[in-house]
Amino acid sequence: MGKAYNLAERFRAHFGGEGRFYRAPGRVNLIGEHTDYNDGFVLPAAIDFDCWLAVSPRPDASLILRSDDFDQTCQVDLSDNTVRPSKTWSDYPVGVAVVLKKAGYQLQGANALIHGEVPIGAGLSSSAALEVASACAFLDLAGCRLDGVQLAQLCQRAENEFVGARCGIMDQFVSVQGRAGHALLLDCRSLEYELVPLPDSVQLVISNTMVKHELASGEYNRRRAECEEAVRRLSPVLPGIRALRDVNLEQLEKNRSRLPETIWRRAYHVISENVRVLQAVAALRAGNLRELGQAMAESHQSLRDFYEVSCTELDLMVELANQQRGIYGARMTGGGFGGCTVNVVDAQHADEFQRQVADAYQQATGLTPEIYISAAADGAGAATPEIPLRATR
Ligand code: GLA
Repeated sequence: MGKAYNLAERFRAHFGGEGRFYRAPGRVNLIGEHTDYNDGFVLPAAIDFDCWLAVSPRPDASLILRSDDFDQTCQVDLSDNTVRPSKTWSDYPVGVAVVLKKAGYQLQGANALIHGEVPIGAGLSSSAALEVASACAFLDLAGCRLDGVQLAQLCQRAENEFVGARCGIMDQFVSVQGRAGHALLLDCRSLEYELVPLPDSVQLVISNTMVKHELASGEYNRRRAECEEAVRRLSPVLPGIRALRDVNLEQLEKNRSRLPETIWRRAYHVISENVRVLQAVAALRAGNLRELGQAMAESHQSLRDFYEVSCTELDLMVELANQQRGIYGARMTGGGFGGCTVNVVDAQHADEFQRQVADAYQQATGLTPEIYISAAADGAGAATPEIPLRATR
């Protein structure tokens, strides 16, 4: 096991002087997948894997970003209005700075050291964590405060407009507003949210398949377009609908002939998934973990068969999970085509679950998975410079 990463020491070594420290977590989504950009419901939780930033002000307008993880440094001039994305990690913090400036915030130059602990490319929102930590840092240096909802929206804008990924609001929102021990039910239209306590008797276990298929971003945008097409085709008979959020299963069934088969399948997933999110929340509130697990199982099947964003590795990970003692529910989490599954597991069996699933997955695929046991964590904020050592995954 290595030495704990000390942000203050590293900052001093790289930039000299003292920094201020911020952190923002990644997330896991319990249920409500591909519903956020349809104005629907999601139930994510922040996880205890964070992106950390140490920053100090500069007397000029330069933003100097250092990543020890990538061993790269990037510099942009904040007074330059023509900054363009460079297709690397630095697009996330630079995008946040660009969007904040466009929104009228007077940012000053800064030195920033970034250290990410959220596994990259695993569907646990390492990019949202980097955006949110950056926004907290830049705004604080500028002496500004934003409420959490606006902060999440600005970070989403950075990703949509600067990075060029058409993601919904879920990842940034929970990275800001997450609460230890709770999942967060978010209405992605009104942005009203409720914290839903998770029982102490269970653990969230996240199984990383260690694959990321090329398809991911192209197919993500295609799914969004298919949902928009469903709304367009249903609008003449369901006037006033703005998103699939406004359609129920009965209406969809009645108008099935208006939709090409693929478009119908996509809409069916989204509309039924919204129902499942609310069922899952009711089950959690009632302490009915079996019913929560049932909703998660149905969510996975729907993502596999109707939305078609799963893959063999994710399906296998879910199947192996369902064979273990103490499992309540397992499903793919995040955008799909690889990445992670989320598992709600009886706390007493979590370690055994971790071992057994890892062995079985390795035997079946030859890949060594990473399996994380994570508490639901607090959203972003100021941080201490000492980053705790994590148990071996
Ligand atoms: C990605 C996006 C989110 C959401 C999920 C799918 O994580 O960033 O906004 O759409 O996919 O639920």
